Amino acid sequence: MDHFRALVADHMGEEAPKLAIKNLTTADLPEGEVTVRVAYSSVNYKDGMVGIWGRMIQSYPHIPGIDLSGFVTESTDPRYKPGDEVIVTSYGLGVTHHGGYSELARVPASWVVPLPPGLTLREAMILGTAGFTAGLSVQRLEDNGLTPDKGPVVVAGASGGVGSVAVNILAKRGYEVTASTGRLSEENYLKALGAARVIHRDELTETERKPIRRPLWAAAVDPVGGKTLSYLLSTLQYGGSVATSGLTGGVEVETSVYPFILRGVNWLGIDSVECPMELRSRVWERLATDLKPTMLSNTIVNEIQLEQLPEELALILQGQVRGRTIVKLG
Ligand SMILES: NC(=O)c1ccc[n+]([C@@H]2O[C@H](COP(=O)([O-])OP(=O)(O)OC[C@H]3O[C@@H](n4cnc5c(N)ncnc54)[C@H](OP(=O)(O)O)[C@@H]3O)[C@@H](O)[C@H]2O)c1
Repeated sequence: MDHFRALVADHMGEEAPKLAIKNLTTADLPEGEVTVRVAYSSVNYKDGMVGIWGRMIQSYPHIPGIDLSGFVTESTDPRYKPGDEVIVTSYGLGVTHHGGYSELARVPASWVVPLPPGLTLREAMILGTAGFTAGLSVQRLEDNGLTPDKGPVVVAGASGGVGSVAVNILAKRGYEVTASTGRLSEENYLKALGAARVIHRDELTETERKPIRRPLWAAAVDPVGGKTLSYLLSTLQYGGSVATSGLTGGVEVETSVYPFILRGVNWLGIDSVECPMELRSRVWERLATDLKPTMLSNTIVNEIQLEQLPEELALILQGQVRGRTIVKLG
């Protein structure tokens, strides 16, 4: 495949980049040991930040897409050979390095994860960075002592990508899950994923600063941040943990030492980008086995083509996307 199509962001002198599908050649690919014929990519909030707002892009033209799965076509690294099925997410993919919104990609071998047995290339992208982050959140919460008998677990931003996968993984593992959403119209969807209770996000949003409140949750998965996180920290049970991964509700968090020194709560930072490869591989393997969501089906996924990406990237920034969106390339 010498010629291939990709979604390219170009900077035309205005603030936001211009997105267009272009025909490229292998000479347009960046450096890297492994070339991949991309089967699927996906849409994450960060893809919207890069593709629509131009955040984090260091040079133009740029191919966005922080996730890809596909088949190796060439490799100068002996660990990979043509035909191998692989996942590539994180590091600089789609941010400082050309990404997955492309029929062909070239990446450093150190970014590549072999597709674990038990997952298809399509399922790997239904998960994508959002699903990986949900899996990493559950792994970290359980490493910090969470078990289903400890009490209810709340998931904020539940109808989004990280949230939807987290609800489904936790429910499958026997947790009593409360899903918090700004879209109560998604109640049936969230219950189908396994939520025992669905609440409006206003119930989790701090309107009045209080250092500590009635303890409600054994743990929380929080891709929202801001006033939601302030509230969650003040309502964790003794020894409870919150796994913080995102910022859709804001970046500033007001808290005090009280939840930490009176209730021994744990504030766990979740980073998918630089997550060490040993832990990354382990989480992907678990996402193919004991953490594999039960709903990697039509319930959670919307499949689109390259042409539909600009519209979909704009929608995710407006909090209008439900579950996971994958892009079929191969
Ligand atoms: N740390 C990491 O490595 C990592 C990895 C992946 C993602 N993230 C971050 O995690 C967040 C979620 O990513 P995603 O791909 O799952 O995005 P997403 O699919 O858009 O989900 C985000 C959800 O947040 C909720 N939300 C949106 N605007 C909000 C607001 N103003 N206030 C409160 N809630 C709001 C919405 O859920 P409801 O409609 O249900 O309320 C939305 O669906 C993003 O901030 C992303 O950058 C971080």
